[in-house]
Amino acid sequence: MMKLPHSSVFPFPPALAGVSASRSNGPRIFAVLLFLATPLTQAIQNPRENFCRRYAHQTTVIDDRLYIDGGYVNFDAFSQDHLNVPNTWLSFHDLHNLTTGTDSGWPQLNIGLKKDPQVVPTVAGGILWGDDVNKKFVVYGGEATQGLAQTYHLFSYDILYNSWSDLGPPTTPIPPNISSYGAGVSISQLGQGYYYGGWISNITMRGWTQPPTMSSNMYRYDYDANKLTPMNSPDRLGRAEGGMSWIPAGDNGLLVYLGGIVDRGNGTKSPQPMEKILVYDPQTNAWYTQTATGVIPQDRARFCMDAAWAPDRSSYNIYLWGGLSVGPNANVTAFNDVYLLTLPTFQWVKIFPGHQGNATYDYGHHSASCNMVMSRSQMMVIGGTYPGSDMCDLAQDIWAQHNIWTGGVNNTGEPPDDKYWASYNPNVSTNVVPIDVYRLVGGDKNGGATLLTPKNGYDSGNNTGTGLAALLARKPNFQNRTATRSIPCTQSCQPTSSIAPASSPSHSRLASGAIVGIAIGGTLALVLVLCAWWFLAKRHHERRGTNRQSQMTQVSAFSGSYNGSVPVTVVSPLSPQGPWPGAPQGYYPYPPPQPQSPIQLPPSEIGAQQISELAEQTPSSGNNKPWQRSGE
Ligand SMILES: *[C@@H]1O[C@H](CO)[C@@H](O)[C@H](O)[C@H]1NC(C)=O
Ligand SMILES: *[C@@H]1O[C@H](CO)[C@@H](O)[C@H](O)[C@H]1NC(C)=O
Ligand SMILES: *[C@@H]1O[C@H](CO)[C@@H](O)[C@H](O)[C@H]1NC(C)=O
Ligand SMILES: *[C@@H]1O[C@H](CO)[C@@H](O)[C@H](O)[C@H]1NC(C)=O
Ligand SMILES: *[C@@H]1O[C@H](CO)[C@@H](O)[C@H](O)[C@H]1NC(C)=O
Ligand SMILES: *[C@@H]1O[C@H](CO)[C@@H](O)[C@H](O)[C@H]1NC(C)=O
Ligand SMILES: *[C@@H]1O[C@H](CO)[C@@H](O)[C@H](O)[C@H]1NC(C)=O
Ligand SMILES: *[C@@H]1O[C@H](CO)[C@@H](O)[C@H](O)[C@H]1NC(C)=O
Ligand SMILES: *[C@@H]1O[C@H](CO)[C@@H](O)[C@H](O)[C@H]1NC(C)=O
Ligand SMILES: *[C@@H]1O[C@H](CO)[C@@H](O)[C@H](O)[C@H]1NC(C)=O
Repeated sequence: MMKLPHSSVFPFPPALAGVSASRSNGPRIFAVLLFLATPLTQAIQNPRENFCRRYAHQTTVIDDRLYIDGGYVNFDAFSQDHLNVPNTWLSFHDLHNLTTGTDSGWPQLNIGLKKDPQVVPTVAGGILWGDDVNKKFVVYGGEATQGLAQTYHLFSYDILYNSWSDLGPPTTPIPPNISSYGAGVSISQLGQGYYYGGWISNITMRGWTQPPTMSSNMYRYDYDANKLTPMNSPDRLGRAEGGMSWIPAGDNGLLVYLGGIVDRGNGTKSPQPMEKILVYDPQTNAWYTQTATGVIPQDRARFCMDAAWAPDRSSYNIYLWGGLSVGPNANVTAFNDVYLLTLPTFQWVKIFPGHQGNATYDYGHHSASCNMVMSRSQMMVIGGTYPGSDMCDLAQDIWAQHNIWTGGVNNTGEPPDDKYWASYNPNVSTNVVPIDVYRLVGGDKNGGATLLTPKNGYDSGNNTGTGLAALLARKPNFQNRTATRSIPCTQSCQPTSSIAPASSPSHSRLASGAIVGIAIGGTLALVLVLCAWWFLAKRHHERRGTNRQSQMTQVSAFSGSYNGSVPVTVVSPLSPQGPWPGAPQGYYPYPPPQPQSPIQLPPSEIGAQQISELAEQTPSSGNNKPWQRSGE
């Protein structure tokens, strides 16, 4: 007999909703009454039909499907109930199957993949280490969304068989420090995932009795060996809430870490300066630092970013979206802007809104996800939470998807009106360098950069000579990693391309013939997997059952509130039209932090007109581009 997992305010996952519905048809009247007493409307909520917003989720892209695991969802009654609901669903956006109708053209959301919350914990602020060679991903890190952390196990999801495996505790000599809101990457062609920093607390690690602490640990996970290994850290300082991207330079690619917060040794939070870029070389397990120049973003944490590069790899460009303000100087709680860091010149350039200054649109948000899609032609930004607003985020049939073109709208390289946010198009699968980059580094949209070193030179020390300078001048040729199991394959199914990184899927989708093949050939395996799964579920359920608590409304928290300015449970998103702040009215640069009282609006998608009305209610200061009132 299955038990309902959580308190009555917790919406049932789809499988359990069916169970409770059939109960209500039962003959015994008290059962009916009992069922009616539970909030029926909540019991049937799901993140497809009742979506308002999502945040702190983990994502990965494999074979043109963008998988979303964990984090929190807000349902469409959010403006009344202000509930942050753990997202127990494993879902994906199909990047080729688009919505039709009014808001057409966005990747469909499928919430039907298997995931039993009694077996696989629902975590926030972790990572999915995607493996597009073996068609799997591993969930690493993150914090429990209900109760305290349990004994830590790695879990892996198998895409071909729609099944989960419990991989047990990580294999390190000393138990690793599990953290949330660290930064990481997955590198399919090396078969490796990395994770650096994050918060260690009693909701990430069982038995942690200290206050939440920033981690200085760097870990590597080897996919095929299921092995977690501690690697060198850049220094002894704890860091969290930054971003990490992989670029195909050096001998085996390089990892670029930036932003977030740092514990300089006395346990307090300081911003990690946005111009101090940390670079890790997986080949030699060594770290380098380099100072960036240009239009430096204001200090921030919980932003998201992903990398693209020129076709000839003469520049590597990291696109950074939004984030939570952490500096003492900022005038906003969260950002609604886009910056780009170009390497090897280490120059920051602002691409939205405007090119200079600290201007940001209102309704900044943080804890969104950024994934390059369609061969890095576009970057899909999903979700995020909006301090001070409880409006929904392009909820109806768009599910908080937002699309940035890496070369400007339609990847022309020279976007009209500096337009980067625009409707998604799955037909484009080449990327180019935008003019905002080649204006600085030379060349054109196809590459050919002429400036190939930092504007003010490399930082002194080991960066010069054979150090970072030499690494960034090299372009590796990767060996193709081969699958360790039989992957049903058609002619479109190639080994990982020689430079495609983990998060950039090749175009190979399984043809329907292949899917039929999997279905038939996999039946026996599926039966075995199901048996194992049932056994694990049963065992795991017994193991966990007694410890489960419902702390749903008391979210992630402590690490998320800076100076108490970010309400923990009252958060809210909102955003104008599809391609984000497409609002033509202009923007007002420095909206003050939102008051604690949320703006009361219906929990529906809001249009540009409503946005402008809303904005008028908010006093703004420091306008150098004054808001144009809709009536004037
Ligand atoms: C596209 O998505 C819809 C909604 O999830 C689904 O019903 C349909 O089967 C999908 N089509 C394909 C070809 O995957
Ligand atoms: C975990 O982090 C704590 C605090 O930073 C540190 O003292 C400890 O050595 C770390 N453990 C491991 C295995 O790295
Ligand atoms: C978990 O850690 C938080 C933050 O330090 C603390 O307030 C809370 O009491 C801890 N809970 C338990 C059960 O130790
Ligand atoms: C901790 O160190 C930072 C940087 O050295 C300093 O700015 C801050 O005031 C210190 N905080 C405390 C509580 O000592
Ligand atoms: C570069 O120098 C720093 C300190 O100066 C050191 O910590 C780091 O290990 C050096 N990196 C390499 C690759 O030698
Ligand atoms: C942007 O903000 C930073 C501090 O966060 C400040 O140093 C810088 O001068 C500001 N830039 C402009 C153009 O106002
Ligand atoms: C981009 O392409 C789409 C579809 O091809 C087209 O409808 C749209 O007008 C184009 N946008 C611009 C700014 O050229
Ligand atoms: C993509 O190509 C298909 C098939 O040619 C076409 O039907 C569809 O309209 C195109 N989509 C866009 C956004 O241009
Ligand atoms: C990897 O595979 C791709 C596609 O099959 C091929 O073009 C490339 O040459 C291979 N690279 C190596 C190093 O074998
Ligand atoms: C914040 O706003 C105040 C008042 O408008 C202004 O003086 C200050 O320069 C702004 N600070 C930043 C970092 O933009």
